[in-house]
Amino acid sequence: MKKHKPKVLQIVHVYGFPAQNTLKIIKLCKKYKVKVIEDSSESLGAEIDNKKVGSFGDVSIFSIRSEKMIGVGEGGVICTNNLSYFNMIKLIASRHAPFRKKNDPYWKKYYVSGEGYNYLMPHLLGAVARAQIENFKSIILTKKKTIGRYYHNTFKDNEEYCILQKTSKKFKSAFWLNAIYFKKINKLKVRKLGAFLNKNKIEVRSGFWPLSEMKSFKSIKTFNKSVSNDLFEKILVLPSNINLKKKDILYFKKMIDIFFKTQ
Ligand SMILES: Cc1ncc(COP(=O)(O)O)c(C=O)c1O
Repeated sequence: MKKHKPKVLQIVHVYGFPAQNTLKIIKLCKKYKVKVIEDSSESLGAEIDNKKVGSFGDVSIFSIRSEKMIGVGEGGVICTNNLSYFNMIKLIASRHAPFRKKNDPYWKKYYVSGEGYNYLMPHLLGAVARAQIENFKSIILTKKKTIGRYYHNTFKDNEEYCILQKTSKKFKSAFWLNAIYFKKINKLKVRKLGAFLNKNKIEVRSGFWPLSEMKSFKSIKTFNKSVSNDLFEKILVLPSNINLKKKDILYFKKMIDIFFKTQ
């Protein structure tokens, strides 16, 4: 059978945490000349060895839709240090209409040199994003980290559950969302708990749907799905809004304890 070498690999940092194997993947990709796209949409501000996520790949992408670390409604940001990628991305995102050089005549302005898209960011959204970027470290990231710390202190690992990912000196989380893994609880009971919390006006999410369970990907060959399915079924993502207080998190814990006591 003919072997196909991948051209690109995508690292996805989830829930605010840096993907733990990032450095190993980057090293392997360098060795085999595979390009890396780093999807840092959920983890803006997270670090590995004091280096920000989004600075490891050839290209990094950040979603800035409303619920992300920086949220303006809809939109995204692409970063790269590679000048030719930068020029290509800029061209494709702006209808493939080359930017006018300083001395170009006015009639060159609307010439379209190829196939492109209109992915230009409206000025107003750019201004909203900029204001958030300026306050990102001092307000957003600081508050997210404080809330993450409250969660870690309140939900100490026990028989029933554990906080999913650990922050450490090497891997620093941005705590976009706080995910709890109910390791020893049956998946139907986790669903019941999620429904109970929702009914009590505590908004929870499940873990991410595995791609292999999506209709469009069902026909594609997959390997061991047990881990992704387990994480999907046994994770509850608890509220992580920056305005939460310690007492809110204590209340979430109390409601979870009540649920388990009444089962
Ligand atoms: C890791 C990750 N990548 C990409 C996206 C998609 O971003 P958008 O909805 O802005 O296209 C999301 C979430 O929305 C995400 O969490």
